[in-house]
Amino acid sequence: MMTIRLAQPADAAALPAIERSAAELFRLDPQLAWLADAEVPDATQHLRAIEQMYVWVADSADGQLAGFLRALEIDHQLHVEELSVSQHFQGQGIGRALVSAAIEHARQKQLTAVTLTTFRDLPWNAPFYQRMGFTLLPPEGTEAHLLDALKAEIIHGLPSERRCAMRLLLA
Ligand SMILES: CC(C)(COP(=O)(O)OP(=O)(O)OC[C@H]1O[C@@H](n2cnc3c(N)ncnc32)[C@H](O)[C@@H]1OP(=O)(O)O)[C@@H](O)C(=O)NCCC(=O)NCCS
Repeated sequence: MMTIRLAQPADAAALPAIERSAAELFRLDPQLAWLADAEVPDATQHLRAIEQMYVWVADSADGQLAGFLRALEIDHQLHVEELSVSQHFQGQGIGRALVSAAIEHARQKQLTAVTLTTFRDLPWNAPFYQRMGFTLLPPEGTEAHLLDALKAEIIHGLPSERRCAMRLLLA
């Protein structure tokens, strides 16, 4: 049984290893394999995020954390900055449950949308979010905070032609 809950400060220490393990999936794509060896935020940065942003964790029955989602509110929208599920726990619906928790939170706070940036063509990225109701944003319809996120990713070395911004509008 997996519980989705808001992260507590004590969870911060476990999050870097989860993000590194999750990124192993990128080794499947030769152009993106380097991401599996890229630096990830450290426990101190996660602690700051837990205190200042929204971080949800998936907590397994034995108390082991399987994944996390970090998001922040920008212009009455909930922007998902990071979603990671440890390799061993992938493909069991945990990623979907974390995204659902973020959407539910945004609805309850009466935010206007949930946004994120992701890879267009990886099966566990844009196609997955599309099945959850997100739509691809054309460049001309993309808000400033998403354009900034895309720009920062390109500086980090991500192939721009494979990145996209997505939004789920809330009623
Ligand atoms: C994205 C990620 C968090 C999904 O976590 P997960 O626990 O495996 O997610 P789920 O089991 O809920 O699966 C999510 C969807 O992706 C699909 N999927 C998951 N792993 C997949 C894989 N290896 N290949 C193809 N499709 C995959 C599933 O079919 C599922 O779709 P559905 O819910 O519509 O049936 C995980 O793959 C991950 O950590 N990836 C590396 C980091 C990353 O890409 N983060 C997202 C950045 S925007």
